[in-house]
Amino acid sequence: MNILSAKKIRDNLKTEYQEIGISVFDCIDSTNDEAKRQWKETKTAPAIYVSDEQTAGRGRRGRSFYSPGGTGIYMSLLLQPESGLEDAVHITTATAVVVAKVLKQYLGAEVGIKWVNDLYFKSKKVCGILTEAVMEANPTEMPAVVVGIGINLSTEVFPEELQEIAGGFGATTNVVERNELVARIANGLLDFAKDLKDCSFVDEYRELSIVLGKEIRYNEGDALIRARALDIDSEGGLMVELADGSVKVLKTGEITVRLEE
Ligand code: BTN
Repeated sequence: MNILSAKKIRDNLKTEYQEIGISVFDCIDSTNDEAKRQWKETKTAPAIYVSDEQTAGRGRRGRSFYSPGGTGIYMSLLLQPESGLEDAVHITTATAVVVAKVLKQYLGAEVGIKWVNDLYFKSKKVCGILTEAVMEANPTEMPAVVVGIGINLSTEVFPEELQEIAGGFGATTNVVERNELVARIANGLLDFAKDLKDCSFVDEYRELSIVLGKEIRYNEGDALIRARALDIDSEGGLMVELADGSVKVLKTGEITVRLEE
């Protein structure tokens, strides 16, 4: 797979984003963790962190994200939203749309989104997104947000526990110009970050959703609730119909939705 390069990433960034910091690593624990460390030291955002391999890639709910070298993209974008964290919940949803569009453009792959932040290709998870806030000790200082994106491109061999769930796009994606992909994703996200209140991505999200119309289960505390996914509301929330016919909107990214077999 081609070598990651800060210069090549920058070459593909829009003119207005030419000044942002780009850090590229051969191997690091987690690009999200590196972004947080750098934020604490330099307080500089936006910035892009990318690594060929991660030794402690993290997913949601304390899970790890398998990140072998030379087969995927592991990147984090550090942002400092002007509006604070109020609308930061939209970032994950918008990121899923941006990544799905870039993958379609570059690989011709029809990728679907499982609410709220997993991307699927041929029934296998090919991408996960982990958005984390970096709070400040001093409440008058604006917090930062780290958006971490992990994409399995040519990854074919997964640890046993992931074999049923995770997949990639096949060995041919070995030739994909990763630097260009990273830059396109960053361009899309930086555009979106200018106005987090702008929910115009929701229509595309709805079209890309693989849960609508399906029977699902989601967790509420320790309980697993059965429901039918009806629609995505104007803010990216998932509208579901419960067994008693009532309709509820699932908002938090901490809810895990499982499709019924
Ligand atoms: C998930 O599937 O639950 C989210 C996975 C997010 C993985 C990416 S890879 C780049 C960034 N660094 C990390 O440690 N995690 C995210």
